[in-house]
Amino acid sequence: MTNDDLAEVMDTSDEWIAQRTGIRERRWVDADTTTSDLALEAATAAIADAGIEPGAIDMIVFATLSPDHEFPGNACFLQAKLDVPGIPAMDVRQQCTGFVYAMSTADAMIRVGNADTVLVVGAEVHSKGLDVSDRGRDVSVLFGDGAGAVVLQATEVADARHDSHVWDTRLHADGSFADALWLPAPGMAYERFISEEQFTEGLNYPQMDGRTVFVNAVKRMPETVEEILSENGVTVDDIDLFVFHQANLRIIEAVAHRLDLPPEKVVNTIDRTANTTAATLPLCLDEARRLGKLEPGMLVVGAAFGSGFTWGSMLLRW
Ligand SMILES: CC(C)(COP(=O)(O)OP(=O)(O)OC[C@H]1O[C@@H](n2cnc3c(N)ncnc32)[C@H](O)[C@@H]1OP(=O)(O)O)[C@@H](O)C(=O)NCCC(=O)NCCS
Repeated sequence: MTNDDLAEVMDTSDEWIAQRTGIRERRWVDADTTTSDLALEAATAAIADAGIEPGAIDMIVFATLSPDHEFPGNACFLQAKLDVPGIPAMDVRQQCTGFVYAMSTADAMIRVGNADTVLVVGAEVHSKGLDVSDRGRDVSVLFGDGAGAVVLQATEVADARHDSHVWDTRLHADGSFADALWLPAPGMAYERFISEEQFTEGLNYPQMDGRTVFVNAVKRMPETVEEILSENGVTVDDIDLFVFHQANLRIIEAVAHRLDLPPEKVVNTIDRTANTTAATLPLCLDEARRLGKLEPGMLVVGAAFGSGFTWGSMLLRW
């Protein structure tokens, strides 16, 4: 869906969207495709790329805010599609920071010896849940559908500064901002889980205070990057690649400016993917590999911010 395609169904324009967000187009699924379908494609590609069989996976961690159904979690639907019964399958519901939370969870499970080979997936289908009338235009133009996956495997780390591994992750949240970006309904907070009033009031569509999100994102992402660098004794100059949550190019540019990053060390997909929430970081990692900007041995920092508010960072020796 290009910006011009959107302008045919709501009162918006390519100029408005591109100037404020850097988004030119986004991918929206067809009616039959679910979030776990997208995840299956990404997972299958990641498993093949890792040179293993699905049967080698001993845990699934699935980050999404747009599951196929309210319950069970999407990790279970993906597990059935991958035909790997019996292993733990866990959902992470941390929205745009979901992939960082999922990586941190998988890393911790490996470190304590509870898992050896973990499939970490971030996938979203937003398009089916957006208000594509004029009422929802401030939110709907920002989001796209997508999926990305990585396989994490246990490894001996003799030297944390050089050996390939998840070096560190940092997680944060501030629930006092929960209603600055949220999907109010349906939910158990109401007299009935689902009701006509919710639809009449449009509470079944995401609600966002865009300004508040913007201001906090440009503060929290540099903060968590500086934190993870200083805690591990590395500097911006040591990092080969930065991947930031893809919500808005202006946010990413402000973060890069604050951290004084050279543009060639930052990979973005937002112009083509828009905001795919839990999928943005793995999509950026994949893009970086395709462009030859991510190779074994490189030091990578990823950071995200989103609904919750939640934010966090990860430091990877690729
Ligand atoms: C949403 C966002 C792009 C709006 O940008 P902005 O610079 O704050 O917007 P402006 O104040 O310049 O424009 C608002 C005006 O545009 C209008 N507008 C909103 N959406 C529009 C659209 N899709 N097309 C055209 N006009 C639109 C509004 O109605 C408002 O009109 P008004 O001034 O007549 O009331 C910006 O706040 C943002 O990116 N916030 C962060 C959002 C985000 O990243 N969310 C996900 C985080 S994980």
